[in-house]
Amino acid sequence: MKKLLAILLVLAVASMAFAGGGGQQGGASSGGVTRGMNRKIVMGYSQIGAESEWRTACTNSVQAAAKEWNIDLRFSDAQQQQQNQLQAIRTFIQQKVDIIAFTPVVETGWEAILKECLDAGIPTICVDRSIEGSDRKAANPNDMTDPDNWFTCFIGSDMEQEGNRVAKWMTANVPKLKPGKSVYNIAELQGTVGSSAMTGRFKGFRDTLGIPAATALGTSSDGKYKIILSQTGDFTRAQGKQVMEAFLKSNPNDIDVLFAHNDDMAIGAIQAIQEAGKVPAKDIIIIGVDAVKGAFEAMVAGTMNASIECNPLLGPQVMETAVKILNKQAVEKWVVSNESDYDQTNAAAAFPSRQY
Ligand code: AHR
Repeated sequence: MKKLLAILLVLAVASMAFAGGGGQQGGASSGGVTRGMNRKIVMGYSQIGAESEWRTACTNSVQAAAKEWNIDLRFSDAQQQQQNQLQAIRTFIQQKVDIIAFTPVVETGWEAILKECLDAGIPTICVDRSIEGSDRKAANPNDMTDPDNWFTCFIGSDMEQEGNRVAKWMTANVPKLKPGKSVYNIAELQGTVGSSAMTGRFKGFRDTLGIPAATALGTSSDGKYKIILSQTGDFTRAQGKQVMEAFLKSNPNDIDVLFAHNDDMAIGAIQAIQEAGKVPAKDIIIIGVDAVKGAFEAMVAGTMNASIECNPLLGPQVMETAVKILNKQAVEKWVVSNESDYDQTNAAAAFPSRQY
């Protein structure tokens, strides 16, 4: 009897050690396993690709947090193709992963696959970008026509608010940086067409200026700001440069402000502006979004004016939320990120402590 008890005790201790996954910290030691599960959580993650500094920081954060939380991460890079994302998610379903996280490259085309996840009983976390029709509230959880009920929760930024913040920074600062003008002409580099990051920033910027959200070009309600050019640069540095070159060719002396939907495109545009013989951040005021290292370097060097932060360090929140969901704990429908605005007045002080 004693022997039997001793064996049972050894087995119980061994299984507890296995379930704990060897983590050292509070979160990590309880993370990676759920109640009643004697193995690691398996998470399938469909990432968009590696189009920007921001995306790389986001991927690094997710991969590091999975290790920290002792979660078995199956990571798939879609190389900017929605088709690849759908295929990856279908594979995750076949593999019977415990939970799926994904960043939708564009807003449309997710209903069928998310319903497949629901049918398979696999919870989904929508990360960074959102899907069409979602306000991330899910007013009535039984209404399956509401896209918010197709996924479990959303973790990421308020893209529309980022567009508002760009417009606010612009109206507060541009008249001081370029005094003596009655109308300021704006060129806009849009992000990936149809992505929530693009549609949100596009709309938020126009809303704050009093320009109809459905129009690409237009003048603010006070008549002081006019969007004269607006085209996509697909969130990449190379296309930001290319499109800015075309803008400068068609309008060599008219652009006062550049609003780039991300810093990578702003950095590409800075090169185009310099090659056209103009002084970036003086002849043309440059505002980006993300607050990545490259933007800080440019702000400190005086070639970029401002960057509105969009936080890519979402990994820890994704893992913590996944563990909660699998433990049947309540989670917020929308876990919003904390963000700040940076410009040449505070960039140098903040730069040393930036993590991306
Ligand atoms: O979805 C977030 C956006 O995607 C970032 O602003 C941009 O840099 C990235 O590629």
